[in-house]
Amino acid sequence: MKRFIFGLFVIAFFTKSLFAGEGMWIPMLLNGANEREMREMGMKITADDIYSLNHSSMKDAVVLFSRGCTAEIVSDQALLFTNHHCGFSEIQKHSSLENDYITNGFWATNNKEELPNPGLTVTMLMQMEDVTDFALMGVTKEMTEVQRKEKIAVNSKAICEKAKERSGFDAEVRPFFQDNKFYLLYKQVFKDIRLVGAPPSMIGKFGGDTDNWMWPRHTGDFSVFRIYVGKDNKPADYSADNVPFKPNYHFPISLKGVEENDFTFVFGYPARTSEYLPSYAIALTTEKSNPHRVDLRGMRLDIFNKYSATDQKVKIQYASKDAGVSNGWKKMIGESKGIKRLNGVEKKQMQEDDFIRWTNADESRKAKYGGLIHAFETTYTKYEPLKIAGDFMSEAGYGIEIVSFVSKFQALIDESAKANVDATKMDKLLKGLQSQTKSFFKDYHQPIDREVATALISYYIANQSVDFRPSFLNTINAQSKQTISDYVNKLFDKTLFVDEAAVNALLIDFNMKKIRKITQDPVYQIVMSLKDFNEIQIQKPLKTIGTSLDSLQRIYMQAQMEMQSEKQFYPDANSSLRIAYGKVGGFSPADAVYYNYFTTLDGIIEKENPEVFDYVLDEKIKSIYYTKDFGPYADKDGKMRIAFAASNHTTGGNSGSPVLNAEGQLVGINFDRCWEGTMSDLMYDPAMCRNISVDVRYVLFVIDNYAGAHHLIEEMTLIK
Ligand code: ARG
Ligand code: ASP
Repeated sequence: MKRFIFGLFVIAFFTKSLFAGEGMWIPMLLNGANEREMREMGMKITADDIYSLNHSSMKDAVVLFSRGCTAEIVSDQALLFTNHHCGFSEIQKHSSLENDYITNGFWATNNKEELPNPGLTVTMLMQMEDVTDFALMGVTKEMTEVQRKEKIAVNSKAICEKAKERSGFDAEVRPFFQDNKFYLLYKQVFKDIRLVGAPPSMIGKFGGDTDNWMWPRHTGDFSVFRIYVGKDNKPADYSADNVPFKPNYHFPISLKGVEENDFTFVFGYPARTSEYLPSYAIALTTEKSNPHRVDLRGMRLDIFNKYSATDQKVKIQYASKDAGVSNGWKKMIGESKGIKRLNGVEKKQMQEDDFIRWTNADESRKAKYGGLIHAFETTYTKYEPLKIAGDFMSEAGYGIEIVSFVSKFQALIDESAKANVDATKMDKLLKGLQSQTKSFFKDYHQPIDREVATALISYYIANQSVDFRPSFLNTINAQSKQTISDYVNKLFDKTLFVDEAAVNALLIDFNMKKIRKITQDPVYQIVMSLKDFNEIQIQKPLKTIGTSLDSLQRIYMQAQMEMQSEKQFYPDANSSLRIAYGKVGGFSPADAVYYNYFTTLDGIIEKENPEVFDYVLDEKIKSIYYTKDFGPYADKDGKMRIAFAASNHTTGGNSGSPVLNAEGQLVGINFDRCWEGTMSDLMYDPAMCRNISVDVRYVLFVIDNYAGAHHLIEEMTLIK
């Protein structure tokens, strides 16, 4: 492919001292202080090998997988590694009782057998540019936050249009450092991504939700996909004639493994962190919001688990939902604990005291930043009840499956109510709903939803006052002697939305009568009640509070950078490509306890428990494990290593990211963090924060020896 440089505005503005481990850095800005530190820590390659516009570089082999994960290219035919949990919903969608790929795994034996996944995309960053000056053109100090945002949106649109025209790529301007900096991202979106292989859950999800977010870990959390393109090597919609993409770069894979203190870096798409918030925000999240959300999710999980334990069909149906609900549930528990252990709120308060002192010491600073912390306090006081009301609405209201399903009909009703109904749009909406109906009922078990609804509504009423809940909840108790479970049962008996045939009938020959049927349905009325509640009681007051918070946050970010001018700041994660670097190592999670930095197959055998689903191993896996002939994939001592821990600063979205050694060779696939360190999204602690990666040698062993997919190994570049 032709190399391109559109860069007009490249500015390197970082030159300061660092905090090894912490930080998610912009790949384009590594040269300078980051590169120096990386080399001091052991890196043998250069920043230019990682990100370059003049020749192929590693950034050409790292992609955003779907919307929330990362994947890396590992062959010249665009074979992709990501996590099992990142490919899970695709694996699940191809699965049924007859073809149970979740339980048994799936392996295509040739390209023809690779399975297409409509809707799945991977996105590649082509180039990045600092366009701050252009994005802020015409923005003045006198503008309100809303005017400022509008101006930036107009500027960004113009920048993107020009960029698209110049390059032929998709372009997007994204804010960094709380709207203080703006970068233009050129991207290519690939739309034909096929499933090549996935290990059975016994490997890919070994330890399940029990071990999730925890170290020591023994999960072979990987799956394999491939990018397909048109014959011109450009992204194309799915077609049987498409061919494997020929990438500019693919990662060589090291068979040497890692040792304690080895330098590693993680290259991927971290989604969201909030490292620069004031104490009020940290207290709200960890002491108020998380605890309610944890309770609400815990109730749903108990109910899912009760049914799944005795019904294999339900277990498959709810596998993906359960993983999603449980993942956030456990993360929030860990995050709140971690902040408490770190005295995170007090630490932030001390920083704020320093900040106030620093501000007051200088008249011009006083003029700019005086009163900022106090403004945070008053604004967060107003924000808190709205944030909690929003949490309840989404976790308890839409946590009822039938409610979130029926909410999808809103757009259809809205469109049909228009004076000039757009027939093509209606048709598209109806078709979309038909396919959503199909996938909803494939994985819906009504008895679960009845129990969930009863539990969530009871908790909602018990914990939110009348003014902070949607109106439908206030009608339940009004009818005397009706218990919540009576109410729920009546609701489910009456609604037509629990009946697949009835829903399908609604969507054919759509007419006025059907519109009435929908709008008069009791579940649709709940949806409307939630919608009104959200618009009037949450979004309306939030509009002003939210903009003041944005403005305060932006000014506080700028002020923190000014106050600690010798410190190198990294921007909060925002689903853009980043580099985190650190060292391989264990940690001490509690007094007198030390965790080693790697796990081995011995631990899988130790954890095996036929009674506990998460730790079941079948004979095929055991016989492979017991051969102990791990060939080139064994460590020096002959053992099979499974996972390792390191101090790279990662977050959600980094799952599936390549973990690279000092030479830039692939040594692991990142998939998680240890529980004691999950507060790293708010506050990083070098003593406790560890990312968890599956050792790439175990990945290769499973592909080669368990799946017998030696042809895939032959595609890769292995370094002995
Ligand atoms: N905790 C990891 C992440 O946030 C892995 C989640 C998937 N695994 C699971 N057992 N649910 O994505
Ligand atoms: N497991 C996460 C993910 O899916 C990674 C993390 O939160 O550390 O991206």
